[in-house]
Amino acid sequence: MRILNIVTQKGGTGKSETVKNLAFGLAKKGLKTLVVDLDPQANTSSTILKLHESISKETLDEMIQTFINDKPDNPTGLEGIDILHRFMKKKIDGYDVSDVLLQPTLINEAIQHTKYINLDILPASSNLIETDMKLKTSCMKSDTRLDIALQKVEDKYDVCIIDNSPIINGVTINGVTACKNEGDLIIIPIKIDAGSLEGVDITLQQMLEILSYSDFLEFDFKLLFTMRNRTVVEADVEKTLRTLFPDRCFNTPIRYQSKPVVTASNERKILLEGRCKSGVAQDYKQLVDEIFESINPN
Ligand SMILES: Nc1ncnc2c1ncn2[C@@H]1O[C@H](COP(=O)(O)OP(=O)(O)OP(=O)(O)O)[C@@H](O)[C@H]1O
Ligand SMILES: [Mg+2]
Repeated sequence: MRILNIVTQKGGTGKSETVKNLAFGLAKKGLKTLVVDLDPQANTSSTILKLHESISKETLDEMIQTFINDKPDNPTGLEGIDILHRFMKKKIDGYDVSDVLLQPTLINEAIQHTKYINLDILPASSNLIETDMKLKTSCMKSDTRLDIALQKVEDKYDVCIIDNSPIINGVTINGVTACKNEGDLIIIPIKIDAGSLEGVDITLQQMLEILSYSDFLEFDFKLLFTMRNRTVVEADVEKTLRTLFPDRCFNTPIRYQSKPVVTASNERKILLEGRCKSGVAQDYKQLVDEIFESINPN
């Protein structure tokens, strides 16, 4: 099983979009694919498992009604925090990845099949918010729990794709340390904007730090240009990164094209699930081909 871990400490760079489309595309090509969602926002889990109640009209109406029913004379804001949390709290039936990080033997029970052929998911929930703290206070192999869990299912899958939150913490470190075998890859998506070079720098430094206290990791990474516009500045930054990191940048950049991405999201679909006429869908298809060829050279 090859592990592709999409990670960067910079938010909103297309990590989840990339995870969903890569997973869908590689599964469609016949690879048994497991997605691991390590983001408490659980957007990838919601899309893949079709769990979008949180923004359904009924849920929003119910939230307003609950607030009206509970409303104290002088609302302080705490009531809103409480109601939002009650409604956003985990919608996953059964175990999720936070349970597996605390008890790796639960992995088989926590993995869910999806409506997509060849595509399973170890879903996230907001419970992950507390998992980092729980890992910190646990002394038993807290950095390698995901690795231990994934070893139990490695014969069932060809590829495992990990989505991350934009914060590098104990949960993220579990994803990085799981990427330890030859052929596993850390993919750093880069949306070129004012903070993008700092984002790449910090992410790579953090990866090196994780490596420095591990004596078994084979660290391999590649940069992926996402949400790319055709500006001169972007072309210059991309050229610089391609020069500094030869052979460590995917050939295919993903263009910025909001309409198809937003439409797919509003329809609760993965972009590549649709007719794929748009440029951004074509880019993702090409990226899937590029990665498929590197995984399956024959
Ligand atoms: N190529 C694209 N063109 C236009 N919009 C995009 C593209 N890729 C992603 N988006 C949109 O940009 C936003 C951020 O994308 P996404 O959620 O994939 O980023 P992320 O890195 O996972 O964010 P986070 O750090 O919060 O997890 C989303 O609203 C998504 O729909
Ligand atoms: Mg995300």
